[in-house]
Amino acid sequence: MKEVKIESTLYVFEDLSEVPKDVITLMNKAIEAREKAYAPYSKFNVGAAILLDNNEIIIGNNQENASYPSGLCAERTAIYYAGAKYPEAKIIRMAITAGSKKNKTTSPIPPCGACRQAIVEYEVKQHYPIEIYFMGETGKVVKSDSLANLLPLVFDKSVL
Ligand code: THU
Repeated sequence: MKEVKIESTLYVFEDLSEVPKDVITLMNKAIEAREKAYAPYSKFNVGAAILLDNNEIIIGNNQENASYPSGLCAERTAIYYAGAKYPEAKIIRMAITAGSKKNKTTSPIPPCGACRQAIVEYEVKQHYPIEIYFMGETGKVVKSDSLANLLPLVFDKSVL
């Protein structure tokens, strides 16, 4: 038996004003998307914005449903739309912001496991890392240089 340690490096910015200007622009698109989320059940609004290598920005937000599991997260709404609209484009980065209508969300909210799995599919497909930035409504912003950092022991097409 041997012990295996898995390490990831993340970067933490004190607030949005500290991140590069073009990322602020992308995060502002995610904030706009978050404000339009359809989340009447959880009251937890999430917005995502994706920058593609053709300079297009694709947004998404969570879409809930009275049949709860039929709803979809913001990140997957955005990335599936990007894949549908620009199948040949590479995804450069994704900005994510989440905020509860019940109390102010001041800590960074990472993408859920299902969304990480969905995003990594595109990272593997495009052979190019996808930068991820995530935050709450205010406060710290976390950056990961690639989705793989957020999903060790990835399940991808190489195992099929
Ligand atoms: N949600 C997202 O949109 N992204 C995530 O990564 C986590 C959760 C949504 C799903 C649901 O509409 C609400 O947040 C509460 O779970």
